[in-house]
Amino acid sequence: MSLPTTVRIVEVGARDGLQNEAAIVPTATKIELIERLAASGLRTIEATSFVSPKWVPQLADAAEVYTGIRKIEGVSYPVLVPNLQGYERARAAGVTEIAVFAAASEAFSRHNINASIDESIQRFVPVLERAQAEQVKVRGYVSTVLGCPYQGEVPVADVVRVAQRLHRLGCYEISLGDTIGVGTPGKARAMLRAVAAQVPMTALAVHFHDTYGQALANLLACLEEGVGVIDSAVSGTGGCPYAKGATGNVASEDVVYMLDGMGIATGVDLSRLVETGLWLSQVLGRPSSSRVARARSAH
Ligand code: HMG
Ligand code: MG
Repeated sequence: MSLPTTVRIVEVGARDGLQNEAAIVPTATKIELIERLAASGLRTIEATSFVSPKWVPQLADAAEVYTGIRKIEGVSYPVLVPNLQGYERARAAGVTEIAVFAAASEAFSRHNINASIDESIQRFVPVLERAQAEQVKVRGYVSTVLGCPYQGEVPVADVVRVAQRLHRLGCYEISLGDTIGVGTPGKARAMLRAVAAQVPMTALAVHFHDTYGQALANLLACLEEGVGVIDSAVSGTGGCPYAKGATGNVASEDVVYMLDGMGIATGVDLSRLVETGLWLSQVLGRPSSSRVARARSAH
C-alpha cells in the first residue's frame, strides 16, 4: 500500500455535469461556475465539450463558454473533442488542452459516438497529429471500464487494450471511466492494476460515477494502488446522455473531504468548494448530491 501524498483533482462538473442536465444552463452561469471552481483552488477544470450540438445541445455554446472564462494562470481548462471538426472549433476558440474519448465496450461506443472502437481511434489519429504539431495537450478517456449499460460485463483485457492504444497515440494521461457507476473496490483495483501493468501509473486517472454509491470506496482502493489523479464533479453532477441509468460523478466536495482527512493534499479549499456546490444546486433547482455539502448546510 503506497498512498500518494498529493492528488490532482480534475473537476468535470461544468462538462460531465452540465451535459446531462435536462434544462440548458445559461452560458453566463456556466462561466460563473468555472470561475468559482478556479477560485476554490482547483487547477484542472474541464470547461465544456466541442461535440455535435445535435447530440449534446446542452453544450452547444462551447465556444462562448470557453472564450468567456477569465482564465487564471496555472489553471488548465481542457475540453472534450470527438473528431477533427470538434478540434477545429476548439482551436478557433483558443483551446490549448483537449480530451478525446473512447470506450472499452463496442456497444457503448456505437451509442455514444456512432462508431466502433476502432473507428473512433482512427478518428483520433489526425486529431492527435494536429495537436502534437500545435503543442496542444491531449488527455484520453476510456469509458465503461467496470461495466456497460448495453453489454454488461466488460473484460479487463479490453480496457487495457484501449488505454494502451490511446497512450501510444500520445495521450499524456488516460482517465478510466466507470460510466455507469457499477464497480466495486476489488474490481476497480484489479482493473487499475491490469492497466498500470501496461501504462505507467503516473499517466493514469480514475473517473468514477456514483450510481451505486461505490465511488469513494472504489477511489480508496485505487489510491492504495498508487493512482494520483481523480476526476470528480462539484455537487455530484454528471452522467452521460448515452448511458442509460448513469447518475452523477463522485462529488468533488466528498473527495476533497476524504483526502483532507487522510492527509493527502489537493490544494482545494473545501469551504469555498462547498459554497460553489450549494450555489450550483440552487441554480439547478435541486439538492446537492454531495454528502459533505448537505452535512455542512444542515446547520
Ligand atoms: P455522427 O452523427 O455519426 O457524425 O456523430 P457525422 O460526422 O455524421 O455528423 C453529423 C452532424 O454533426 C453533421 O452536421 C456534422 O457537421 C455535425 P449536419 O451535416 O447534419 O448539419 N458534427 C459536429 N458539429 C459540431 N462539432 C462537432 C461535430 N461533429 C459532427 N465536433 C459524433 C458522431 C461523434 C459527432 C457524435 O456522436 C457526438 O458528438 N457524440 C458525442 C456524445 C457525447 O458527447 N457523449 C458524452 C461525452 S462522453 C462521456 O460522458 C463519458 C466520460 O465522462 C467518461 C465516463 O464517464 O466514462 C468522458
Ligand atoms: Mg463521465
